[in-house]
Amino acid sequence: MEKLMISGGRPLRGTVTISGAKNSAIALIPAAILAESEVVLDNLPHLSDVAVYSEILEELGARVSWEESQMRIDPSNIRSIPMPNGPVKMLRASYYMMGALLGRFNEAIIGLPGGCNFEPRPIDQHIKGFEALGATVTNEHGAIHLKATELRGAKIYLDVSSVGATINIMLAATRAKGLTTIENAAKEPEIIDVATLLNSMGASIKGAGTETIRIEGVKELKGCRHSIIPDRIQAGTYMIAAAATRGDVMIDGIIPKHLEALTAKLLEMGVSVEELDESIRVIGTSRYEHVDVKALVYPGFPTDIQSPMTSLLTQAEGVSVLSDFVYSNRFKHVPELVRMGAKIRVEGRSAIIEGSSLNAAKVKAADLRAGAALVVAGLTVESGVTEISGVELIDRGYDNLVTNLRMLGADVWRQVE
Ligand code: EPU
Repeated sequence: MEKLMISGGRPLRGTVTISGAKNSAIALIPAAILAESEVVLDNLPHLSDVAVYSEILEELGARVSWEESQMRIDPSNIRSIPMPNGPVKMLRASYYMMGALLGRFNEAIIGLPGGCNFEPRPIDQHIKGFEALGATVTNEHGAIHLKATELRGAKIYLDVSSVGATINIMLAATRAKGLTTIENAAKEPEIIDVATLLNSMGASIKGAGTETIRIEGVKELKGCRHSIIPDRIQAGTYMIAAAATRGDVMIDGIIPKHLEALTAKLLEMGVSVEELDESIRVIGTSRYEHVDVKALVYPGFPTDIQSPMTSLLTQAEGVSVLSDFVYSNRFKHVPELVRMGAKIRVEGRSAIIEGSSLNAAKVKAADLRAGAALVVAGLTVESGVTEISGVELIDRGYDNLVTNLRMLGADVWRQVE
């Protein structure tokens, strides 16, 4: 096991180029199952979740080759082999195997997903969608069994605008007979990315990125080449780290529009943010105003960057209130930040954050984004070394983290525990 060691107090300076989006990649890889020929994915991030997904596809019989940021997936020999255990248990997004295998083979057996367990994360909306399309869904000893004689288009209203359920239903419906409509669909950029890939494969999906998605089923999908959108959560984390260390960083290779909610909050705090075509420059300053933040579904402030944002708000003057309306209790970073001297208390869905300087401490990343919060916090500490364990969780979502931070001037290294 490794620990991340941070000797903080140095302003980050320079340029960081952002890789492809994790939450797109882990939906696009299973989407390739639906094609009859090779799918080539460019701009793939180097992350452990991506490696697990390529392993899952190989187990099913796909030929997968992954070189640098390109993955080639030849799904021609894929079978719907039952996967009640094994790598599917290692990541949350293995739920996409259900939609993809159901869509291609009308059946699948997939173990209930693993991944970041910051709170119970139900998949009832995914199941409701599969059932509406004509599948029988049963849970047998922790594995979901899905079977359909034929999938038929249906009108599906999501009770919550779930990213996972929206994508999963799109996957299952692309080859179903007739029209499927998803109402109250999630609007995140990753959903548009998946629809773009599926349409390049020959699917007929309209309205991705709005609350109504219409999918006209097609008989067959072919291979294609697709470049993954930039990771807005990694980009946002570097923007926050630049502000927290009062540095000057150009975050490059991104779509600034995807980060508007964060940009607006940083400006409100007094951070200087310049938007360019494919980059954002963040220049920190010595004094920040407190702000209130509400994490919501897209285009609201992303829940996935509320944890690092909590760390930044410890650097603002006065009291900030950060509430998460996507997850009710995604605050596992708070007790660790308190160990570092932060003055934060959690009340219901909100963290109440009083500005204060932070100290070096030994802390533990309880999940991916909680880990990112600790990295941002460690970078602000003026003296001593912050030791973060649970690095393998951070590696699930941030590729080249240490290299990138070092290039920006941070004193960060990995140490074997
Ligand atoms: N929900 C339900 N029933 C469902 C599905 C979701 O009640 O069937 C609820 C959840 O409990 C939650 C809310 O709806 O309160 C949103 O969940 P959603 O389904 O949108 O999340 P997800 O698909 O499980 C994806 C990302 C998360 C990200 C959320 C929200 C992947 C693999 N995961 O999760 O990413 O937080 O959307 O944007 O794409 C991360 O990257 O750290 C991460 C957790």
